[in-house]
Amino acid sequence: MNNLINKKAPIIWHGCDYNPDQWLHMPEVIDQDFDLMVKANCDVFSLGIFAWAKHEPEEGVFDFDWLQDILDRLHKIGKFAIIATPSGGRPRWLAQKYPEVLRVQENRVRDLYGQRHNHCYTSPIMREKVSIINRKLAEKFGNHPALVGWHISNEINGECYCPKCCDAFREWLKEKYNGDLDKLNQNYWSAFWSHTYTDWSQIEPFCHHGDNDVIHGINIDFNRFVSHQTAEFFRIECEPLKEISPDVPITTNLMGYHPESLEKRMIANQCDFTSWDSYPMWHDKKCGNELHWGKEVAFDADYTRSLSKNGNFIQMEATPSNTNWQGLAKHKRPGVHHLASMQTLAQGADGVLYFQWRACRGGNEKFHGTVVGHDSSEEARVFKDVSALGGRFKALQSIVGSKVKPKVAIIIDAVSRWAITGTQGFSLDNKDYVKICQEWHSVLWEMGVTSDQRESDEDLSSYDLVIAPMLYALRDETPDNLKSYVKNGGTLVGTAITGYADENDLCYMGGFPGPLRELYGLWIEELDTLWEHDENSLVPEKNNILGLEKSYKLKTYCERIHPETATVVAKYADDFYADEAVLTNNKYGKGSVWYIASKPTDEFKIDFLKKLIAELNIPVALPEQEKGIVANRRYKEDKEFLFIMNYNDKETTAVLDDKKYRCLEKGTILEKSILMSPYEVKILEYSQSNR
Ligand code: GAL
Repeated sequence: MNNLINKKAPIIWHGCDYNPDQWLHMPEVIDQDFDLMVKANCDVFSLGIFAWAKHEPEEGVFDFDWLQDILDRLHKIGKFAIIATPSGGRPRWLAQKYPEVLRVQENRVRDLYGQRHNHCYTSPIMREKVSIINRKLAEKFGNHPALVGWHISNEINGECYCPKCCDAFREWLKEKYNGDLDKLNQNYWSAFWSHTYTDWSQIEPFCHHGDNDVIHGINIDFNRFVSHQTAEFFRIECEPLKEISPDVPITTNLMGYHPESLEKRMIANQCDFTSWDSYPMWHDKKCGNELHWGKEVAFDADYTRSLSKNGNFIQMEATPSNTNWQGLAKHKRPGVHHLASMQTLAQGADGVLYFQWRACRGGNEKFHGTVVGHDSSEEARVFKDVSALGGRFKALQSIVGSKVKPKVAIIIDAVSRWAITGTQGFSLDNKDYVKICQEWHSVLWEMGVTSDQRESDEDLSSYDLVIAPMLYALRDETPDNLKSYVKNGGTLVGTAITGYADENDLCYMGGFPGPLRELYGLWIEELDTLWEHDENSLVPEKNNILGLEKSYKLKTYCERIHPETATVVAKYADDFYADEAVLTNNKYGKGSVWYIASKPTDEFKIDFLKKLIAELNIPVALPEQEKGIVANRRYKEDKEFLFIMNYNDKETTAVLDDKKYRCLEKGTILEKSILMSPYEVKILEYSQSNR
């Protein structure tokens, strides 16, 4: 069944990173683990993430007996394993014998052995060694009955600037530009400050003491190259696994939009399900209440799901209590761990795993939150909390295989992201592209509208509404993709700083938004940026088509636009462009295009989106709620599963629609409204039989 990650484990996955390789000299602790796993209601364990030195203590000498033992024991008690390929942490002997596997930093200094996640992706030796160890793992364990997934490496990220990588970059460029250096010079606008390349050997990727961001077209290409090289390394990692155990699904733990240089879909496309590591800083009051962190989790969860080919995804890591690397090791307050985990399910996830099962005795993660503490006590608060959550997951078994149904997409494009980061201009402190897109996502999520995140060249035809904030740089395919989406009846929303540059960050000649001018039906003449303490306002036209009535504040960006075929819906109130258009609508084919020539506040976004959502009949999980109550729905056959979450630290009432629901955990029938305890989550089922 495609709706399940692996039909061997048709449950809500609940478990942890488990590192028994650190405990092999204390077998009594491992014995205790197997007893505690049952009591903790944890079922799925990621194994061997950093175990290369145990798998291969010397070059070519392999020892998998310990892992065989762990897998057999897991299977015996009905638990499942995800086995990791071990490239996230390299053994010392490998670096000592083959220094080329060590990464070179941007300052062109080679790392000594240390840390993790730091191998060169180009090194032929590294590629060969990874391929060998992965093949051995697949041969040995590919058929193990406990195995339900492969976990490739760990938090893949980073760049290497070693001579091999720099050479590979030059070769990659030669191929991309068909050996035409003039074309490359034009794309990089390298005549600027006399930076013209006269030989391919002069090309160097970014470094602070050399080519930095003057010719930033090359930085965009370097990001493309890093994505390509990382994806190629990933392919090499997967190859033996796919060949030997084609039925075992592959994943890797991503990190939302981090790192900047990696186009995640190039990795995700090679996975059978996606996953991510989630570490919000709950309880930082500076950021407001827990709703703030719920938004962060929502954004990353939706992104991870969007990256998945089939919508299957899990949260691979989160702490059950505290981290140890965030400046402050604040514990999740009672209730918040359940809230965060249930929220992840609400967004369609198939499971929730943690870092990590048991606290290490030494090393720099010994004080990180874990399921089992140094006391190994099943009476500990966190242990009991995790166990209770696992028990709740078992009561939710009927949601397994259900999915969310997003009808809205937000375009968050890698090329615009790279180009905006590199560009000098705009409001330098306010050009965080991903954050600007996230603000749109948060408004939708709070309203109970699920959204996907897409690159600008992806198929948009399943969405009723697409929001493309600040789509500054357009891939070659983007204009046609957006036009055909709208032509066929889609609704598109754009905001200030759209269509300024092409995919090489060369500005369009003949007026912005370049090739989107016909689609938006307007010309952007100039961009004004406002101080933090400045503002302008958007004033709706009388009898406008959206029925907007009040004025809204505008911050940061104000474009002067000239509607050509677009209709003016609202105008600026102040400054030398008072009375000029700020919000327009253009009819295009069967669809409709909105342009907001500024950076609107949430107040505007809420009212604006409410109107569009109503007009387009986009499903909303529940009608408007008191602040802090958020709802989401998953669907399976004729059933709907409604998750209602209370992010407030006080009792709050959630208002239901006119349907009758059954509480999945308690079996009670609920209607009209529910009084929710602080941080409570309720999971309700609606089906025809409730009526
Ligand atoms: C993650 C990493 C884990 C662990 C965790 C601690 O980034 O993948 O191995 O270090 O952080 O929070």
